[in-house]
Amino acid sequence: MDPLWYKDAVIYQLHVRSFFDANDDGYGDFEGLRQKLPYLEALGVNTLWLMPFFQSPLRDDGYDIADYYQILPVHGTLEDFRRFLDEAHARGMRVIIELVLNHTSIDHPWFQEARKPGSPLRDFYVWSDTPDKYKGVRVIFQDFEPSNWTFDPVAGAYYWHRFYHHQPDLNWDNPEVERAMHQVMFFWADMGVDGFRLDAIPYLYEREGTSCENLPETIEAVKRLRKALEERYGPGKVLLAEANMWPEETLPYFGEGDGVHMAYNFPLMPRLFLALRREDRGPIEAMLQETEGIPETAQWALFLRNHDELTLEKVTEEEREFLWEVYAPDPRYRINLGIRRRLMPLLGGDKRRFELLHALLFTLKGSPILYYGDEIGMGDNPFLGDRNGVRTPMQWSADRNAGFSRAPYHRLFLPPVSEGPYSYHFVNVEAQQENPHSLLNFVRRLLGIRNRYAKVLGRGSLRLLPVENRRILAYEREYQGERVLVAANLSRYSQAFDLPLEGEVGLVPVELFSQSPFPPVEGRYRLALGPHGFILFTLRPKAEVERLYLPDWVATEEEVEAPQDLPVVSLSGGVEGLFIDTLADERARASFLSALGRVLGERSWLALRPERVELKDALRLQKAPPLYLTLLRLEGEEGSLEAFLPVALRPEGEGPGLFARVRGGGYLFELSQDPGFYDLLLRRLAQGFEGRSLRAHYRGRHPGPVPEALELLRPGLAAGEGVWLQVGLVQDGGLDRTERLLPRLDLPWVLKPVGGLYRARGQERRALALTGTLPSPRPQDAFAYALRLAGEGLARLQDHPVGEGALGLVAHALGELEALARLLGVRLALLHRALGEAEGEGEGVPLLNRGLEAFVEAGGEVFLLALGREGRGLPLQDLARLAYDLERALYLAAEEREGAEAWVDLAADFLEAALLQAYQEVNQGEVQAVGFPQAMLALAQEQALWKEGSGRKRVLERWRRKAGDQEVQ
Ligand code: NOJ
Repeated sequence: MDPLWYKDAVIYQLHVRSFFDANDDGYGDFEGLRQKLPYLEALGVNTLWLMPFFQSPLRDDGYDIADYYQILPVHGTLEDFRRFLDEAHARGMRVIIELVLNHTSIDHPWFQEARKPGSPLRDFYVWSDTPDKYKGVRVIFQDFEPSNWTFDPVAGAYYWHRFYHHQPDLNWDNPEVERAMHQVMFFWADMGVDGFRLDAIPYLYEREGTSCENLPETIEAVKRLRKALEERYGPGKVLLAEANMWPEETLPYFGEGDGVHMAYNFPLMPRLFLALRREDRGPIEAMLQETEGIPETAQWALFLRNHDELTLEKVTEEEREFLWEVYAPDPRYRINLGIRRRLMPLLGGDKRRFELLHALLFTLKGSPILYYGDEIGMGDNPFLGDRNGVRTPMQWSADRNAGFSRAPYHRLFLPPVSEGPYSYHFVNVEAQQENPHSLLNFVRRLLGIRNRYAKVLGRGSLRLLPVENRRILAYEREYQGERVLVAANLSRYSQAFDLPLEGEVGLVPVELFSQSPFPPVEGRYRLALGPHGFILFTLRPKAEVERLYLPDWVATEEEVEAPQDLPVVSLSGGVEGLFIDTLADERARASFLSALGRVLGERSWLALRPERVELKDALRLQKAPPLYLTLLRLEGEEGSLEAFLPVALRPEGEGPGLFARVRGGGYLFELSQDPGFYDLLLRRLAQGFEGRSLRAHYRGRHPGPVPEALELLRPGLAAGEGVWLQVGLVQDGGLDRTERLLPRLDLPWVLKPVGGLYRARGQERRALALTGTLPSPRPQDAFAYALRLAGEGLARLQDHPVGEGALGLVAHALGELEALARLLGVRLALLHRALGEAEGEGEGVPLLNRGLEAFVEAGGEVFLLALGREGRGLPLQDLARLAYDLERALYLAAEEREGAEAWVDLAADFLEAALLQAYQEVNQGEVQAVGFPQAMLALAQEQALWKEGSGRKRVLERWRRKAGDQEVQ
């Protein structure tokens, strides 16, 4: 266990009473809370803070305790508490409870005893014969209590209380009191709770002539409490101080690391609201500076709202007047020195401000606390007394009593908000879980980010960036080289600004919600943010960002072999000896073909591991250095096929496709992955190509433009400025069919070939390569595109627990991939129809017979440029191939991203549903989704046969699981 866990904590504050009622008596209980743990886990919080659940007359909602060792019966039994605690722990959550040290209820037996004349317990409380002692000490609950003293007729004396008169203060000058309270702490810590919130901690001691707040004696008592805790349990249990004070009064509670572990950042909280309304970062910056420099092991607890009024005790009078004016113009919302409203109504229901404040809450220095219900934007009820208006039942659904309880309405401990825009009919978990754009799902996504960057956000340093525009608050968090950059627009209007990033030149800001890279930093970094907008970046080295999006064939296949380990071809004469039958050097040719077979066995574009390679024909494309176009027949366990492959002999042993060393000088390369070959071929075609081998005529042309360089999109497909070139590495007739049919398909997203390379032998003519033009300059292979989208999508989900309502998150994170799946579904349906018309009606559907590699993406559009070999079948087979590729992209992307794999199953289901549904919307009734799992399983088996790794095995495992076939190889 990391004893500093509280630095990575995301805390959820809740009232057991208000959360969920499992036994229908109108009060929330521990069993109810236990049942809702999956919700909390899925939300992304890892620590729960429970408000008081002890025996109490509930005159101060439980902060008036009558027995520290008993649970209020409406909340369940100690057994229920234990069960809840165990399950929370099992889910990796920690639990902080309340330790109310300052006062008890008047109902507590101590007080009932103490008030009796001559009682030995009299000294447990603070008594006086006159109400004049400690004159000048402020009254905290000033709307309710005229004095800190109340006369008790039984005792015949006044007793001291800083809060309600029914909450007498304990007398900490009496060592018995301290001992008793340590015992209370031990009791709950023994049971396994992980920490204690020290309620009203500044008021333990009283001294004449002082404010009776934050006295040195109080600080010492806190340190003794920590010492007692650590002596008994070692490090790992935390103390969290509720000291609503000015910064310089709060800091002493941390001591030198020997006081509390955490304290609420009360100074910062109201200044967040102030800065937001003044649209100026000043108040936040001032408080960040004031609250700096706490001990290394200490941590601030950050919050926006809690169960009390939004306190304005520790702001200047001017600040208070301003805040009251703008946030609580209606006096009904004012109480004591604060505002009794929940977060969303305070913000006037403005989603942008809600999001902005959460972005700050989760990225400023400290551990954030969410107040239950604020994650869905719950409202308040001004008609309930005291602060009860912000403590109403959690709104789970639009069902009766907000889904909180099945008790009759009049038995509920408080009514749920049921009127106005915050009524549970509209604002509830169920509705928001479904909706990817809800507040709830926004908070979950933001927490996903918080958790992924837990260390840097929880423990890192904070450096304010001096942006000239004061409406912008910008800061950089840093921890052990990892950086997160935050910029927030406090204004309700768009703002432009320059971030002073001169020190980060060369780094790439990657936006955290989308995971998309921004232009690299070259100096001052100009940005603009919309009204109350914000942006979160991580700063990454350029090379790292590029590597993350490389297509799989680059990442997995170029394991370069050291030249000395290469197979050797002993060639006595010229290179013709390898290629031209009439000049053949048979022994050299045999070793050449076997070395070629070996390297082809590793090529993912080839659905076969060749055991025998036969040279059927060869044509010289270039004399020096020699480059031959070869036609090969490959045989393997999986069957046989013909391949068209460029092979070169070069003097240097470096570069893609190196597969043999030639004794006598040079190295052999197969060029399927060499962009230089595609360049050369296109140029030769553009010149008009003509050639003759021993067995056939070769002709080629390309009437389109010739860009300076071509980029390899995948083996067999290259493109450049406005041009594409396909090489039929596998000669299965697909290219001929492409050439024959694409021009006949009248669909704007079908790319028609304009040129190519053809081989003619007698009547037989076949296409070895095709060229065409592109409407957009920078295309990419559709699989690479899907892989990139999958990577971005999974990065958004990574480290977020898959849990209840996870589909809403998936829908948001994978929005682009879903759009692609739907687009492909529609296009496949249209294609089946068009192919049917072009190839004639008959049995089954004329198949595309290809997966994603039939398409390219360019400028956000998806184009078809290749058909597979001829064939008829069920539409399901094509759908399965596309689904298979999408799924494989997910698994591949997940390999790169820790914690992402847990999402793949759900993500794949989601995408497959989108694909099938889109197909069916166009070709109604053509797909029988029942056969889909079988089609997927068959495809996954076939694919896994000839190629391991690269996600194939995982897809197979998944479909075996889905088909109910548990036996996994
Ligand atoms: C602080 C608590 O947050 C508040 O709710 C309570 O009324 C006082 N302490 C008195 O216990």
